[in-house]
Amino acid sequence: MNLITNGAGGIAVAAMALPALGFAIGPVFSREPFSWQTIGVPGDFPKSTYMTRVIQIVQGIGEAGYTTAYVRSRDPSIDTEPEDQYNHFVALSSRCMHLGCPVRFVQAAERFICPCHGGVYDFRGMVAGGPPVRPLDRFYTRVENGYVQVGPRYSVNSELRRFSPRDPGEPLDGIGQYLYPARFSTSQIPKS
Ligand code: FES
Repeated sequence: MNLITNGAGGIAVAAMALPALGFAIGPVFSREPFSWQTIGVPGDFPKSTYMTRVIQIVQGIGEAGYTTAYVRSRDPSIDTEPEDQYNHFVALSSRCMHLGCPVRFVQAAERFICPCHGGVYDFRGMVAGGPPVRPLDRFYTRVENGYVQVGPRYSVNSELRRFSPRDPGEPLDGIGQYLYPARFSTSQIPKS
């Protein structure tokens, strides 16, 4: 009798807990869709400065899903990270890697400046001063049928090594890359 009562109780608890658990952790394993967005032709993007483009990073939430990307052509004299089909154009996120405020590129200083707490990034988006914990995030880029396209965001450490996207405030150098592991939902890397 005891066994039947305990068994029924266990089933009742499982019936209530499992859907809630699935609801809570399911999103961790779901992958967010991304699309390649056309932003111009190669001639639109010089090496010496950035052009701004508004791109959609989250679908279905209206204007909040859009952000500004800073885009230029790769310059082999300063862009020394390994070249592949995804970085013929450098596309930087405008989100500060301290707490996420929008940064602004100042052409005269060739710096990205964050208005919130004085974060400064150099021309390549590397931290040059202030509290940001890593370089500006980037977007994959490619050339398709003669058009430049941007794809999903990724994060970089101080050697510009690629990581799946992290949140602002999460360093990726040294032990930081282990303290802030990738989330399954944002770890997409283009296959081609
Ligand atoms: S949010 Fe940019 S420096 Fe704090």
